[in-house]
Amino acid sequence: MIGIFDSGVGGMTVARAVEQVLPQRSIVYFGDVARTPYGSKSPETIQRYACQNTEFLLDKGAKLIIIACNSAASVAGDLLKKKYDVPIIEVISPAVKLATQKSRLGRIAVIGTRATINSKVYEKNISDLRPEATVFSQQCPLLVPLVEEGWLHKRETKMILRRYLHPLKVQSVDTLVLGCTHYPLLRHLIEPRIGAGVTVIDSSLAVAHELDEYLTKRPAFADTLSTSSTTHYYVSDRTETALNTAQRIFDRPVDLQQVSVTG
Ligand code: DGL
Repeated sequence: MIGIFDSGVGGMTVARAVEQVLPQRSIVYFGDVARTPYGSKSPETIQRYACQNTEFLLDKGAKLIIIACNSAASVAGDLLKKKYDVPIIEVISPAVKLATQKSRLGRIAVIGTRATINSKVYEKNISDLRPEATVFSQQCPLLVPLVEEGWLHKRETKMILRRYLHPLKVQSVDTLVLGCTHYPLLRHLIEPRIGAGVTVIDSSLAVAHELDEYLTKRPAFADTLSTSSTTHYYVSDRTETALNTAQRIFDRPVDLQQVSVTG
């Protein structure tokens, strides 16, 4: 089974992408709805939560973990890779790889939560792959609540996006990384506001393709994963907002099972 975790249900954009790219694979998903958002928490707290979430998924039979949450991947990715003896794939590296390949002029913008942007992980990873690139980062703390409220077409959301994207636009960026689970749901508003010539990188699809590549290169390991194409969605709190956001992502009702990961 492929284990995927996120701070909430936003990471289902990654589960959805994995389902699209690898429809035969079984997924076990955990969304830490009770403790969301991670984006405004300290690195130490996020690391502790990330370990608990990983252990929950391993107990459920996951043989590979995807950190779908950009905030968790930013501050806990290295720790999880060191601590657990299973392959760990996170959302940041695949998005960075794609952005550095696609960017024509090396002017790359990244939008994300406070935790993600403050970690500077995108700057570091981009400069490792493309040292001459310039990275422009923008924290967008208001976007997650807007998505969770379902404000996907509201005037206020468009205004806030214009405000966040303007400083990036004036820098003539040619690539924009959606560095947060929730932002793919705002892509229809982001694209026209950042400008037609800008390549938008959706990290959820990037991670699904990375997983596909990883498994194709390791057929023996891939054979150990179940192919019953079942998906179990667990959450630490079964709230109405979580149910609505999950339904918005999959465009169908999603069965969320409530569990506790803290013992
Ligand atoms: N999942 C988080 C991320 O991708 C967004 C929500 C949160 O702040 O917990 O950064």
